Amino acid sequence: MTSLKLTAEPVPVRVYPAGNELASLLGFNGISPGPEIRAMQGQRISVDFENGLNESSSIHWHGIHLENAMDGVPVLTQAAVEPGETFNYSFDLANPGTYWYHAHHRSWEQVAKGLYGPLIVEESAPPPVDQDITVVLDDWRISQSGELLGDFGNLHDFSHAGRLGTYASALFSKDKVRLGDRVRLRLINASTARMFDLEIGGGSGMIVAHDGMPLASPSPLRDSPLLLAPAQRTDVILDATGPISFTLLTNQGPYDLGTIAAGEGSRVRIDSPIGPLPGSRRPSADFESALSATLAMQGGAMGGRHGGDDIWAFNDYSGLPDEPWQRYELGSTARINLRNDTAFPHGIHLHGHHFYELNEDGSPGHFRDTTLVMQNQSREILCVFDNPGKWLLHCHTLGHQASGMKTWIEVF
Ligand code: C2O
Ligand code: CU
Repeated sequence: MTSLKLTAEPVPVRVYPAGNELASLLGFNGISPGPEIRAMQGQRISVDFENGLNESSSIHWHGIHLENAMDGVPVLTQAAVEPGETFNYSFDLANPGTYWYHAHHRSWEQVAKGLYGPLIVEESAPPPVDQDITVVLDDWRISQSGELLGDFGNLHDFSHAGRLGTYASALFSKDKVRLGDRVRLRLINASTARMFDLEIGGGSGMIVAHDGMPLASPSPLRDSPLLLAPAQRTDVILDATGPISFTLLTNQGPYDLGTIAAGEGSRVRIDSPIGPLPGSRRPSADFESALSATLAMQGGAMGGRHGGDDIWAFNDYSGLPDEPWQRYELGSTARINLRNDTAFPHGIHLHGHHFYELNEDGSPGHFRDTTLVMQNQSREILCVFDNPGKWLLHCHTLGHQASGMKTWIEVF
C-alpha cells in the first residue's frame, strides 16, 4: 500500500520564463504540478487530501477504474471538501499506465491554475528503457510580466474554444538524456482547452499507449499524428538521436514547447524492437447484445439553437440532470454515437471506464477514457459498463463542461 498526503494550497510559480513575476497558481504540497505519484500495478493507494485553499475542492483520479465513492465528483459521488477539511481517497491500481489527478470543483478555474499532478502506475514487468520521463503539457493565459490573467469563467471563452492561453509549455520530469538512450515519454495534456497538435523531434520510435492503455500494435511516431485533447495522454518510446524537441503545430506556424537535452552517448544500447506494452485488463467487446444510444453535442458560438438553458447541451439538456442520461445494468455493453453538431472540437470523457473508439468499419480501435470528436463529425464508441455507480460524462474543455456540456450514467 502506498500512502501519502496531498495538501492543496496556493503556490507562486515562475511559469513564464521571460517574465519577472511569479504566477499565483494552486498546487499540492507546495508545487504545481503536484507531486508525481508512482505506484506499482496491483497496489492499493491511500491519499489523505487536505484542502488548504479558501474554497471548496475535490480530487478526481482521471482514467482510474475505481470505486464510485472515490471518484471525486462533488454532488454526484461525494460532498465537496471544504477549506480545512480532509478526505481520504483509497483505491486499487489494477491497470498500469499514465494517468493524472486533478481538482473537480470549479475545475475550469482550479485546473487552469495548476491544481493537478501526474499519476503513474508502473507495469510489474515494464518494457526496457533507459529513461522514463513525464511530460506535462499546459497552456497559460499569462501577462508579459508573468502573472496569470484573472479573467476566469468569461462567457466568450466558454462559448468558443475555452480558455486558450498566451504561453504554452512542456514540463519534463527529467530534462536530459544520453544520445542513444531509449526513452519513454509519458505525455499528459493538463490544459483546460488547448488541443495539443504535437511534433516530437530528435528520435524515432513508436506510440505505445493512449490514455494509459497499451496499443495492440504500436504505431510509428513518424507517420502518426499526435493530437491530444485536454486530459488525453499518450506514451511514446523512442531512441534518442539528438535533443528531444516538442513543437506545437498551430495555424500561425510551429511553436516551441521545450526540449530535453541530449548529452554524451550511452554505452549500452537497447536494440530490441519497440513492441507492445504488457497488456491491461480489457473487456471483450460484445457487439451482438450492445444497446445503442446517441449523444448529440449542441450549442456554443455559431452552433444554432438547442433545448438546453445554458451555452452547451447534450441532447437538448444543459448541465447535470437529476436523473441519469442512461442507466445500464452492470456488465452490459453499449454502442454510443457521439455526434458533434457544433462548430468546435470536444474531447469527451467518461469516468470510471475506458471504451473502444470504433473505426469507420465498426471494428474496435483504441481503448480510451477521453475521445476527441471534431466539429461536425461523429464517433461511435463501445463501452462495457463493468463498474457500478454514478459516472460523469463530459467535455474536458472545462469551460464547456461548466456551461452545460455534461451528463451522467448510472451503472447498477
Ligand atoms: Cu478529468 Cu471529469 O474529469
Ligand atoms: Cu467541449
